[in-house]
Amino acid sequence: MKPEIILTAQGHAGTMATLQSEFTCHKFFEAPDKKTFLEKHAGVRGLATFGPLSVDGKLMDALPKLEIISNFGVGVDAINLDDARSRGIIVTNTPDVLNDCVADTALALVLMTLRKFPQSEAYLRAGHWLSRGPYPLTTSAGGKTLGILGLGRIGEVIAKRALACGMKIRYHNRSKKEVAFPYDPDAVTLARNCDVLMVVTPGGPQTQGLISEKVLDALGPEGYLVNVARGSVVDEPVLLRYLKEKRIAGAGLDVYADEPRVPPEFFGLDNAVLLPHVGSATVETRKAMGDLQIENLRRHFAGQPVLTRVV
Ligand code: DGY
Repeated sequence: MKPEIILTAQGHAGTMATLQSEFTCHKFFEAPDKKTFLEKHAGVRGLATFGPLSVDGKLMDALPKLEIISNFGVGVDAINLDDARSRGIIVTNTPDVLNDCVADTALALVLMTLRKFPQSEAYLRAGHWLSRGPYPLTTSAGGKTLGILGLGRIGEVIAKRALACGMKIRYHNRSKKEVAFPYDPDAVTLARNCDVLMVVTPGGPQTQGLISEKVLDALGPEGYLVNVARGSVVDEPVLLRYLKEKRIAGAGLDVYADEPRVPPEFFGLDNAVLLPHVGSATVETRKAMGDLQIENLRRHFAGQPVLTRVV
């Protein structure tokens, strides 16, 4: 008999196909009446989570036999880890396999934001090159300081790429690391000491609104913000105002507070580059993430230790 699991959202095709071949999958996201669905599947022992659906104690209590929550993604901010811990539920994620891909996106955002590549491409497509002449000069990445807020596994891979572009690195973490880069004691100091502030922290209550007015003031009118972490880390209305009023030079964003809803005021800003949360979105990386999510489930139901346990 295949183990039964609940899927919180639609994953990509390959992952869905493997999940459906190895497990009996119940699709929470397709259920018109969530309460009835949970009552019907109250005996399920595994949950495969995708995306921002909040998985809290209330949902866990509706599934009293739940043993494992296997998340697709490194970020587990949608899952209440304390609630899982207190109920003895294992939580797994998909770290490392996405480091290169997210770091590529982060570096692309730095380059696109400073050099305004999307805006200059739009200029060409609109025929302005011919009618108005060359696109206005932008600013170089080389020689600038990248301040990495959250020098974890992804942050370190971003640092390598930024060094290759001739950037200097500083960082802030909750605790200092054994690395050659200068350490700043808090986000405000890091923002003051860098030209481009790169947010790579985990999401969740501990980092909620960390990028505040104070941090953006410290970044200043010549400074840029790049966020590949979670929208919740940035006070989004404040960021929007600072971009409009040119109180910072620009922002490159892959993540937003209420995805996929992005405040339309962002769309008209020439000093913002906006990506639709594509940090890890390649066929290869999404397959590797799905394989790891599935392997954790497979191992758990075979009575073996999971590979990447968070709780
Ligand atoms: C993650 O792994 O948390 C990413 O945000 C998903 O793309």
